[in-house]
Amino acid sequence: MPSTKRSVDSLFINSSQQGTEAFQTALHTSIDSLLEEWKKEKGPYSGILPGKLAASVKSLFQFHPSGEAIDSVFRDVKEHLLPNLVDVSHPKCLAHLHCPPLIPALAAEVVVSSFNQSMDSFDQSGIASLVEERMLKWLCEKFTYGERADGTFTSGGTQSNYMGLLLARDSFCENTWQWSVQKKGLPSEAHRMRILCSKHAHFTVKKSASQLGLGEDAVVLVETDEYHRMDMSDLKQKLSDLKADELLPFAVVATCGTTDFGSIDPVSDIYDIAKPYGLWIHADAAYGGALVLSEAYRGKLSGIELADSITIDFHKQFYQPISCGAFLLKDQRHFGLIDYHADYLNPLEDELEGILHLVNKSVQTTRRFDALKLLLSLRLIGEEGFSKIIDHTIRFAKDVAALIEQNDHLEVINPEPEINAVVFRFMDEKNANEINKTIHRTLFQTGTAVIAKTVVNGSTCLKFTLLNPRTTITHIEEILSDIVDIGIAHIQSGRVLR
Ligand SMILES: Cc1ncc(COP(=O)(O)O)c(C=O)c1O
Repeated sequence: MPSTKRSVDSLFINSSQQGTEAFQTALHTSIDSLLEEWKKEKGPYSGILPGKLAASVKSLFQFHPSGEAIDSVFRDVKEHLLPNLVDVSHPKCLAHLHCPPLIPALAAEVVVSSFNQSMDSFDQSGIASLVEERMLKWLCEKFTYGERADGTFTSGGTQSNYMGLLLARDSFCENTWQWSVQKKGLPSEAHRMRILCSKHAHFTVKKSASQLGLGEDAVVLVETDEYHRMDMSDLKQKLSDLKADELLPFAVVATCGTTDFGSIDPVSDIYDIAKPYGLWIHADAAYGGALVLSEAYRGKLSGIELADSITIDFHKQFYQPISCGAFLLKDQRHFGLIDYHADYLNPLEDELEGILHLVNKSVQTTRRFDALKLLLSLRLIGEEGFSKIIDHTIRFAKDVAALIEQNDHLEVINPEPEINAVVFRFMDEKNANEINKTIHRTLFQTGTAVIAKTVVNGSTCLKFTLLNPRTTITHIEEILSDIVDIGIAHIQSGRVLR
């Protein structure tokens, strides 16, 4: 490998000619490689499993002491990396709440990464802090969240859910025992504190409880109705049982779009039941939050404005590249519970002078300028554009559910999808779980389609998460035909078809 002599100027973006040219070459080389990959006729994944990827990984990890030419590096990237990535923009990639990213957001990513602003303090971000603040204000208005509302951008739903429960915990301790968890840690009574959520809530509710020092056992699971939404009579019962046992329920998580079914808990009813107990209501709208941009389906979120805090994920149905999420807070004063001042970063005197340091509202310090991606996407395609895409995918999911229902070998678990996830299974009296697992694995290993697998009431099921508006009914028909072929072949021969 020829050694490469580079000047420092050609390694960093700056006003020098060399830096500019090097940046352009790097960008073009990387874009050309992506375009070459996307032009290939192929499925959403190479099908190669981890054991067989070791050689490709080894080829990528060859460091030359003096570096290499960009062409040589990208030769390996094209040969070993790109073909073995999961192509989330492929119309047959339907597994997770994992979206094909919008082109304006990708363009914004270049700006975000190149300027590398950090949102913790104004002297690292300039106008970016104001843009993020304005975007949060716009989001609060969209959720009709009132004058006192505010928010912060987060790495995604996990961090937003964590923040909701963190503020709920600290606010409860402050109100109940005039106890500052921030200063003194958990009070001795903390072992009695309880969080409620439905049994279909995201696992990060339990994970947050464990990280917040309350333990997973502090999470009480509420039963769900036939549509997988939180059951109100069980919520009432669980609350009164907790009280009778002298336990301390302090928060309830309403899921607005459960991961498997997209089911939306009735936030208004939860509010009516939980508020008299003084509970903090956190709405996990990581999945369903995008409905706020939908003309046709916005009403499904009604009542969400009653929640004390809301999780939104832009890297789901807002079609933003990872990572991009937000945490909205109905009363911004609660951000005071996590406020810290560091002399080098956000001294108190700056705050008194009105200098904006967004670190005050975040559990992160250094943080990306992800708001720009959403801003450019909204400017380029408009709210109507978003609405059309979201509405289309929801209608499409209904068509897909109807199509699956017509198939004698398949059973739909949610014939009327709430958003755009369709859960179904290949039917077999003896061996359904094993067959559905085989179908899922075979589709992945042949690179035919990437679909999801989950468990509903002990049964292994398959799932299409239909975020991609470029997936057509023909794509679905082809995948269903493959599914049925694999299932039948498994029954007939007891082994995998391909
Ligand atoms: C309902 C719900 N909440 C939270 C999360 C976690 O979000 P993230 O993966 O962005 O951290 C997910 C992820 O799928 C989710 O479905």
